[in-house]
Amino acid sequence: MTGLPPAAAAPDPDSARPAVAQATDLVVVAQATDLVAVAQATDLIKDYGSGDTRVRALDGVNVEFAAGEFTAIMGPSGSGKSTLMHCLAGLDAASSGSVRIGDTELTALNDDQLTALRRDRIGFVFQSFNLVPTLTALENITLPSDIAGRQADRAWLDQVVQRLGLADRLNHRPGELSGGQQQRVACARALVGRPAILFGDEPTGNLDSRSSGEVLAILRAAVDEFGQTVVIVTHDPRAAACADRVVFLADGRIVDELRNPTADSILDRMRGLEESPVARS
Ligand SMILES: Nc1ncnc2c1ncn2[C@@H]1O[C@H](COP(=O)(O)OP(=O)(O)OP(=O)(O)O)[C@@H](O)[C@H]1O
Ligand SMILES: [Mg+2]
Repeated sequence: MTGLPPAAAAPDPDSARPAVAQATDLVVVAQATDLVAVAQATDLIKDYGSGDTRVRALDGVNVEFAAGEFTAIMGPSGSGKSTLMHCLAGLDAASSGSVRIGDTELTALNDDQLTALRRDRIGFVFQSFNLVPTLTALENITLPSDIAGRQADRAWLDQVVQRLGLADRLNHRPGELSGGQQQRVACARALVGRPAILFGDEPTGNLDSRSSGEVLAILRAAVDEFGQTVVIVTHDPRAAACADRVVFLADGRIVDELRNPTADSILDRMRGLEESPVARS
């Protein structure tokens, strides 16, 4: 703060000028940050099986996910949403094309490097929570850092746990927690490692609407308050309406995109997709 005039000095037009310049600089910085792609898929193709039984799950996908943005991926069952997310997160290998997390090209990594990248830079929340039943909530949250032989950042962990409303549930095992609480533990586990990007494959798919709302609020807050980049797959237009952007997949291709979505605008596009002959070809 040294060198900044006190607020009371503002009426002098000369002293106001640097403040305007500063504000403009901040806007430029914010825009530059917005343009950074945290994850990027280029010409991504994924085939399962071969010959007559081959299924082309991804058919030339090009998509970018910008820093600090919340994206929802939607599309009919079998359209390739999970496949895309698994390829982006390094959980599955694409048949061809490129996946980058930041500057790192995933296809160039060997298994050990991929494991390290997933551990250090990617958070994943599954529909089925995937918590270890014999460990407490806290032990589940710190498990990835324990496995990596690292000390979890205690101040950050406390902040995440507080924000997720888990402070008084930390000594409980998953079986003693509600579905929503279990998924919040899974979100905490993913967030505590400060991943470059957090992926969720139908993270609210097994939850009632109240718990679903809680988990979505957490993901939204992670973006707004922690600057986290989040990508979720969902079938629920209300869940997708929490995102900044919705990307629609059909038959392994990106067929549409919506910014600042509402549940109604999403439903409109989904209806259009179901009726579109392109989506079925
Ligand atoms: N391991 C696999 N072996 C063979 N085919 C697969 C495999 N996994 C997915 N597929 C096929 O790839 C296509 C895309 O599947 P994917 O799981 O990505 O769809 P999705 O959009 O996530 O669907 P849902 O909404 O039902 O979860 C489907 O036709 C599916 O049957
Ligand atoms: Mg799926």
